Amino acid sequence: MSWPQHGGNRAWGAAIAGCSPAEILDFSASLNPLGPPESVLQALGKALAEPDPVAISRYPDPEYLQLRTRLAEHWAIDPDWVFVGNGAAELLTWAARDAQGREVWLPKPAFGDYERALRGAGAVIKPFGYPFPDEQGSLALAKVLQQCSSGPTGRILWLNNPHNPSGGLRSRPEILELLPQFQQVMVDEAFMDFLSGDVPGVTCNPEPPRDPVDPHTAAAPRSQTLIPDLAAHPNTVVIRSLTKFYTLPGLRIGFAVGHPDHWRRWQLWRDPWSVNGLASVAVEAALADESFRQRTLAWLPVAREHLRKGLQALPGWDPWPSQTNFVLVRCPSSATQIQRALLQRHRILVRDCRSFPELGDWYLRIGLRTLPEQEQLLSACREILENG
Ligand SMILES: Cc1ncc(COP(=O)(O)O)c(C=O)c1O
Repeated sequence: MSWPQHGGNRAWGAAIAGCSPAEILDFSASLNPLGPPESVLQALGKALAEPDPVAISRYPDPEYLQLRTRLAEHWAIDPDWVFVGNGAAELLTWAARDAQGREVWLPKPAFGDYERALRGAGAVIKPFGYPFPDEQGSLALAKVLQQCSSGPTGRILWLNNPHNPSGGLRSRPEILELLPQFQQVMVDEAFMDFLSGDVPGVTCNPEPPRDPVDPHTAAAPRSQTLIPDLAAHPNTVVIRSLTKFYTLPGLRIGFAVGHPDHWRRWQLWRDPWSVNGLASVAVEAALADESFRQRTLAWLPVAREHLRKGLQALPGWDPWPSQTNFVLVRCPSSATQIQRALLQRHRILVRDCRSFPELGDWYLRIGLRTLPEQEQLLSACREILENG
């Protein structure tokens, strides 16, 4: 079985562990372990139990007006500015087609699917180093871009915020400053839901108190989404996924926000019914479930701190500061060997970083799970450290 480019491939892990995929404890996919929400499961069950289950017995509306309206209400924007897709991955394909034959500035390491989409569209990737924080803090993106190019005007920029695989977050003002310097910008906010206060006008639980001198936990960010800024920046498209936060990777649903001119083009390129009827039902239920959202946002900082502290206590392990639902950790020895040992001895799957070649074989990316599951992972890591 070939090595997987993405997290969440239990079948691959199970083949190495010698067990069934269901027996694998998966930390590799960066999904919310509290989901899918019960409300979504009930809505799907009800949709299928109806005498005429229209979610599957009819073609979806190719304009997806009801779904776009629901998403637009949630974000307090115009439905014409919303475009839905078969996961964020489909929307990346169309964003890349907008960049056909042109130069795209892309901070690396980057989510591997960007290369798939951009290369498929014949775009020219211009990589630059994502500025990781060090003791002095983090370099501004604008400064890094200035250093690697005399004049980026007229080109295209792709960003991912929060950033996969580091979990780092760039502030909204920092990105806003960059937007006028490019002809087109795509910002992938697939993990933005995991920040408190992401939806305008919705009050969230406060983050627990943090130690202000600890660089790993000093920032307690509120939303940094660019969605409310897009009317002022028609050159920019924001792509969001409902996969991660609502644990719905099998349903495939994402959306993009931006000037409707983008969608007039994208609509001509795409399959007319790329979002299925059940995914639409799930979105409506998920967006209405404020209690699931609040529960997740209350759980998240506690779980992240638990995992970070546990990893930091392992000799030679160095977890990076994360603002989202996974932690990138530098290991003291080959990360792929640790991954293999975790699978073979403990049936635990973590994400190696082979699809982020800039990181070498030193890093693992670990998605947050429940505290008992994280304890299981930490004690497995201790066993591997002790016994080699
Ligand atoms: C940064 C980033 N963007 C987009 C996606 C794709 O999300 P979706 O499942 O909605 O296609 C992923 C999936 O891992 C991701 O990590």
